[in-house]
Amino acid sequence: MTDGRSTGHGRRTAFATLQRGGLNLDSLPMRLFTKGNARHWNPADIDFSQDARDVADMTEHERWWTCTLAAQFLAGEEAVTVDLQPFVAAMAAEGRLADEMYLTQFVFEEAKHTEAFRRWFDAVGITDDLHSHVDSNPHYMEIFARQLPESLHALAADPSPRNQIRASVTYNHIVEGTLALTGYFAWAKVCSSRGILPGMQQVIKLIGDDERRHMAWGTFTCRRHVAADDSLWDAVDERMQELLVPAMGVVTHTFEEFEGEEPPFAVDLNELAEYAMDKLGRRLGAIESARGADVRAIDVDVAPEQLEERFHAEDLANHPLAAV
Ligand SMILES: [Fe+2]
Ligand SMILES: [Fe+2]
Repeated sequence: MTDGRSTGHGRRTAFATLQRGGLNLDSLPMRLFTKGNARHWNPADIDFSQDARDVADMTEHERWWTCTLAAQFLAGEEAVTVDLQPFVAAMAAEGRLADEMYLTQFVFEEAKHTEAFRRWFDAVGITDDLHSHVDSNPHYMEIFARQLPESLHALAADPSPRNQIRASVTYNHIVEGTLALTGYFAWAKVCSSRGILPGMQQVIKLIGDDERRHMAWGTFTCRRHVAADDSLWDAVDERMQELLVPAMGVVTHTFEEFEGEEPPFAVDLNELAEYAMDKLGRRLGAIESARGADVRAIDVDVAPEQLEERFHAEDLANHPLAAV
């Protein structure tokens, strides 16, 4: 705070919400928080009984693909639930209450996503150990067991803007913006191939809505750092280059495991990659557009939120199958 008082941990002499103007409800994190509060959903309300019948009717090959996709999501949601905590603490250390508030909702939503996928497995009767669906994929393990936790937990020791960018690019732009998005597209193919898995369809739709806010926050966070220090644009680019190959490897490896055999449900690797790369490129464009901008203007600029809404509208128009 500017008047000599502090809201900082261990040196609190004031409260952010009591200062003149209070919380800025127009700031992007508060807008996302308000939106998320209005869209709460409960994983326990979803009916998976038809999904159980659909899984029972699948061929072995189809069941393997469906299980692999669901296991990759389940483990991924668990990892992002656990690994977001250092970012919450980093926002607290920076005295950014609105971001801290939004991230508490963000963690809660990831926990619900984890619950939803685990409930699906239980409901369709698959309770055996599922590790072989993820740990046979070295790229998956590289991203979820190494790069994601390492870049997020680096914030605990040093929550610098550069480390925040590395963490956000890994979490929001690679894991959520590239891998999860590719996964939604694949789910849409699986579910729409013959109108199956209505419970999973609902899960993907609800999670997709939450994820739009998560990715908007990631774009926003990179934007505010790039606006404050232009040299940090290189950090965005550098982290992206480090992770693009292993990220695409996660997807291609799944296809390679059944070499010679056609993937079921008309899932097409090139179509998936093209879909994800288009979105990734445009999010990077939104971050780049913050170079040289006034940091205070970035705080209330709704561009990252609008970009995700535009993607959703485009999906509804161009890829109705993938419009979650
Ligand atoms: Fe999630
Ligand atoms: Fe997310």
